Amino acid sequence: MKKTILSGMRPTGRLHLGHLVGALKNWSLLQSDYECFFMVADWHALMSEYKDPSKLKEHSIGNVIDWISFGIDPDKATIFIQSQIPEHLELYMALSCLTPLGWLERCPTYKEQLRELKTRQLNNYAFLGYPVLQAADILLYKSEVVPVGEDQLPHLELTREIAKRFNHLYKKNIFPEPQAKLTKTSRLLGLDGRKMSKSYDNYIGLSDTADEISKKVMSMFTDPQRIKRNDPGSPQVCNVYSYYKVFADDSVCEVVENECRMALRGCTDCKKEFTRILNDYLKPIQEKRKELLNDKSTIENILEKGRVKGQSVARTTMNEVRQMIGL
Ligand code: TRP
Ligand code: SF4
Repeated sequence: MKKTILSGMRPTGRLHLGHLVGALKNWSLLQSDYECFFMVADWHALMSEYKDPSKLKEHSIGNVIDWISFGIDPDKATIFIQSQIPEHLELYMALSCLTPLGWLERCPTYKEQLRELKTRQLNNYAFLGYPVLQAADILLYKSEVVPVGEDQLPHLELTREIAKRFNHLYKKNIFPEPQAKLTKTSRLLGLDGRKMSKSYDNYIGLSDTADEISKKVMSMFTDPQRIKRNDPGSPQVCNVYSYYKVFADDSVCEVVENECRMALRGCTDCKKEFTRILNDYLKPIQEKRKELLNDKSTIENILEKGRVKGQSVARTTMNEVRQMIGL
């Protein structure tokens, strides 16, 4: 029996290289060895996008198209949209009842949002319960492994606490205690060296054109100590080089490293070469994406198949939950 994995992404925009390196690569490596459920977390997205949710649907479908274009295989993994399986909200309610307020108020991601309140208007009731809904997502499928980034560890910790409390209160080990599976690939920073994020506008999108990518790569910071062309460089402090490490072969990285250290290559040429490498990497993904965009019925079928399969697991769990609580 394969172990079960559930992971999700909030459809707040188009995907960028950060998603690709942070999540999709990991997902695609896991999909053969685990029973995988990959979910568009649109209720979670609504918590921050409720004032203008007009793009949620478009982004949900767009993200799924990107997942599949990248190599997530709908024949291996179950792909679905959270809001299409209402059992998520049912379990969320049941878990809400037994989650102490203090656990949620102490959650670092919640505290961080409170600090950002002035700019982001996240003082809504639902946001406090964000991790409870995430726990419901995970526990509904009795998932044992959850591939996530480091920022999500507090939510996984809470999920385990909630699972234990449920098992204890209703005297049956229905839920496993899910473990996080951290992404191994090196982290990819944004163009400006901060975390790659839509809100910082420092990202390279999966669907950016070759021109856009070229402009963005050219704008990147390199080794700040390297002022003149014949100054030797230090690749380990250069953001462009860290991109090479993710997208180029080891042999190419070695050449770049040596030539940079010995001032045998200039940064402009180095960026041009990287632009070519990245465009070659993205080309097949973008072609597949175009194909799928013109083939709405394929995506609809995949999502319908995912909903049916996901819901059959979700219903089974919810029946058990109702029975245990005595509803
Ligand atoms: N909170 C996650 C994020 O922002 C998205 C998410 C929602 C998720 N439900 C999940 C991730 C369940 C893993 C498992 O990245
Ligand atoms: Fe970075 Fe390349 Fe310039 Fe070296 S030559 S500092 S690796 S961009």
